[in-house]
Amino acid sequence: METVSVDLGERSYPIHIGAGLLAQPELLTPHLGNGKVVVISNEVVAPLYLDAVKALFADRFAEAIILPDGEQHKHLDTVAFIYDRLLAGKYDRKTILVALGGGVVGDITGFVAATYQRGVPFIQIPTTLLAQVDSSVGGKTGVNHARGKNMIGAFYQPECVLIDTDVLTSLPEREVKAGLAEVLKYGLIVDAPFFSWLESHSEEVVRLDPEFITQAIQICCKTKADVVARDEREGGVRALLNLGHTFGHAIETAAGYGTWLHGETVAMGMVMAADLSKRLGWIAAETASRVRAVLEQKYGMPVIPPADISVERYFELMASDKKVEQGTIRFILLRDIGEAVIEGGVDEQLLIQTLSAGDQLCR
Ligand code: NAD
Ligand code: GLY
Repeated sequence: METVSVDLGERSYPIHIGAGLLAQPELLTPHLGNGKVVVISNEVVAPLYLDAVKALFADRFAEAIILPDGEQHKHLDTVAFIYDRLLAGKYDRKTILVALGGGVVGDITGFVAATYQRGVPFIQIPTTLLAQVDSSVGGKTGVNHARGKNMIGAFYQPECVLIDTDVLTSLPEREVKAGLAEVLKYGLIVDAPFFSWLESHSEEVVRLDPEFITQAIQICCKTKADVVARDEREGGVRALLNLGHTFGHAIETAAGYGTWLHGETVAMGMVMAADLSKRLGWIAAETASRVRAVLEQKYGMPVIPPADISVERYFELMASDKKVEQGTIRFILLRDIGEAVIEGGVDEQLLIQTLSAGDQLCR
């Protein structure tokens, strides 16, 4: 097992990473205070792992709240449903909420934890690769709004993140690949050697070879912990973690939540960001085509955005991106592999070319 620390003063917390951790209750004991535990999970994950998680908490376990599965339920109605259950159960401020699931369950649970009785502690037990390398770490919590992804939320850090790599064995292949988009993101933004390693070892990584996938998760968590420790509330460097997300969120919202997986739209968005960086003359054509080739050929990800989103619709959705400042859309772009930058005031004609490039992206 490896433990990565997220250093945020009195709100610091450990991320434990390894196989078989759902059978190690001692890792969580220091974080439980003397409250009862309420586990929040969903109808897919609970049948697989709830029994193991109940056993982690023994007589501290009070109940499980099981949500319907899917991004379309990452909604304020679901938050209200959980508040109702917590109030009906008379849970007080010492209650510990435990998120058992992917990024959807984690983001909802974190938001409930941030707001229920003005804040109760919570623990993340992420069960998708995407949640293990990204969403469970760093304290971004929240839900979607019909007008935009993750538009309602709070920064609120967990007490602990417990990553048991064994749970990935039940994850559908499409979900594994969606998670790998966020893994590749870390290489693209700050870690060129990691990107090259992922390029060379794609077969082992895609088939979740324990040695390779554990190493990848550790590297991602270390990078994310470092970025979050430097910029918890996204005043600067943390925005780089949004490579591909301005385009990706627009695609996810335009297509309807749940149509594309979040990681799939991030993959499309990263190829669009590489394409725009190439058009701006910041990266060579070969670098852009390498980005597309790694995602599309080595990792089998969808990289071409749906053709039915008009340029006007992109602009409308991107205008409500959280990185917009005084009406200017700010993009995360590449100066090289491993060197992402945040850039406002991008030439509109070049942007339109990227939005309309379709299969010609990065060609
Ligand atoms: P998800 O939570 O919908 O999980 C994907 C699917 O896998 C679901 O059907 C889920 O029930 C199922 N599942 C989960 N674990 C499983 C397992 N071990 N075995 C079998 N099936 C399993 O999606 P996700 O990709 O984990 O997360 C996407 C969400 O995360 C989006 O809402 C996105 O906005 C959010 N996100 C948040 C952050 C953040 O910093 N908070 C970062 C990235 C993404
Ligand atoms: N996933 C982006 C962030 O946590 O900042």
